[in-house]
Amino acid sequence: MRKAGLGLVLAASLLLGACGKKGDTDDIRGADYATEESNLTFMEHVPADALPPDTLAMSMKEVMGHVMQFSGENIWKWQGYVTDEKGERSLFPKTDEEWEQAESAGLTLAELTNILLLPGRRVDDPRWAKAVADVRAVALRAAKAAENKDQEAFFTAGGELDVACESCHLQFAPWSAKASSGAASNAAAPAK
Ligand code: HEC
Repeated sequence: MRKAGLGLVLAASLLLGACGKKGDTDDIRGADYATEESNLTFMEHVPADALPPDTLAMSMKEVMGHVMQFSGENIWKWQGYVTDEKGERSLFPKTDEEWEQAESAGLTLAELTNILLLPGRRVDDPRWAKAVADVRAVALRAAKAAENKDQEAFFTAGGELDVACESCHLQFAPWSAKASSGAASNAAAPAK
């Protein structure tokens, strides 16, 4: 891990060095690093199909358990009702700021689904691509509903999201599907 990190830093300073030699980037500031020129320099040095070294370092199990689940919960946490010592209360967003957080959660998950399509992570099966597209579409619907502050549509999208995630698990990771679903497996071997 440490070694790989160092490699990245080295690669970054090499790229910066290359910029420097052009003589027009003496005043590189952090804020300017992500300029078009930096991106172009990166693109010139790295083949189009190459991924940065650590891109696939995280196992599918970790991506799912920590990244996808976390992102899904960022939507689900704004839904439903809880009963505690203060009585029953709604979890749905109440203020503009909260609705905006719910919208951001939907957009974040939608964008995040792309990591399941990276070469080396995706399963070469049209059902995989379809399952990813379904989660993405539902996440975008949740975001739209939150933008419209439409509690019912937002709640519906939350339920559909659960189904969309489970649909992939039933096909590709039946051991991760909820016990109640109980479908037979014709699964491809998942990336570990
Ligand atoms: C395109 C397929 C696909 C989609 C879509 C998908 N998953 Fe998964 N998920 C998997 C696979 C494959 C595994 C099994 C990983 C393993 O055990 O190696 C898994 C496992 C899991 C696990 C169990 C992790 C563990 O620690 O055992 C959780 C939790 C999970 N997914 C959450 C989600 C959530 C939440 C969503 C939707 C927001 C989602 N997944 C969408 C393929 C998918």
